[in-house]
Amino acid sequence: MSKVLVVGSINMDLVAQVGHYPRLGETLLGSGFTTHHGGKGANQAVAAARLGAQVSMIGRVGDDAFGQQLTAGLIAEGIDTRWIQTSTGIASGIAMITLAGSDNAIIVVPGANAMLSPADILAAEAAFIDTDVVIAQLETPLPTICQVAELAQRHGKPFVLNPAPAMTLPAELLAQVSLLTPNEFELGMALQIPESEWRSALQQRPGKVLMTAGQDGAWYCDENGQLQQQASFKVEALDTTGAGDTFNGALAAFWDLGLAQASRMACAAAALSVTKAGAQGGMPTQAQLLAFLSEQGEAA
Ligand code: RIB
Repeated sequence: MSKVLVVGSINMDLVAQVGHYPRLGETLLGSGFTTHHGGKGANQAVAAARLGAQVSMIGRVGDDAFGQQLTAGLIAEGIDTRWIQTSTGIASGIAMITLAGSDNAIIVVPGANAMLSPADILAAEAAFIDTDVVIAQLETPLPTICQVAELAQRHGKPFVLNPAPAMTLPAELLAQVSLLTPNEFELGMALQIPESEWRSALQQRPGKVLMTAGQDGAWYCDENGQLQQQASFKVEALDTTGAGDTFNGALAAFWDLGLAQASRMACAAAALSVTKAGAQGGMPTQAQLLAFLSEQGEAA
């Protein structure tokens, strides 16, 4: 099990359940409302910690009630929060999530996440020394992510970048990424290529890009130039929010197993995560993951 450093967003998810998505100008009555701890960074940190990894996180919350609750939630998961700072006079990040069936539509208001600066990363340099792998996403500013990549490289630590939400990435950043973990749309945006060219994009970057593909599992190209697929695990989905984050957190937690094994564990963890409500609600512990794999007739 790897030691994981997560750099990223911390949000309160405000979730409204509806029968269908509203049309422009439509007022719709929802059938339920819940709040859940979320944010792609926090979700990935929790996913790795539940699986037994030693996890530290760098991030920012606001000086509001959400900020206190979110930090307390991370501490309760056993995550080292000493690098999480509080921005004064700024709201914590929130995500407005509309859940129709098991599918979601999300609006993120970054709040304090937008204040996470390159200087914050430099101030947390010690965290880069005491880790096996560094993982980040794109809900915090791009210059901050570039600083993360630079420090990871300086300390010889693998840097996993989950390029979500989708955006075009500078070539200098891509060159410093050990493993990029987009979905098909994010891959197209990150590399500025048509989505249909994903196969050749993976083949040109053996072991450097792992593309998640929902029910089709995950794809990557091995060192021999062969395209490899890790199949997904079939489950009944209740809420798909955070499935990608569970995948990424698990991938980092099992980094020491290598890409083939780590992606298998990550697919299984992501499958379990969608069986319960909330981004973090269904994230499995290591014991739950191993029990699930054995139920599926797979060795751990
Ligand atoms: O990936 C799911 C997450 O995206 C949610 O928890 C929400 O906070 C947004 O950041």
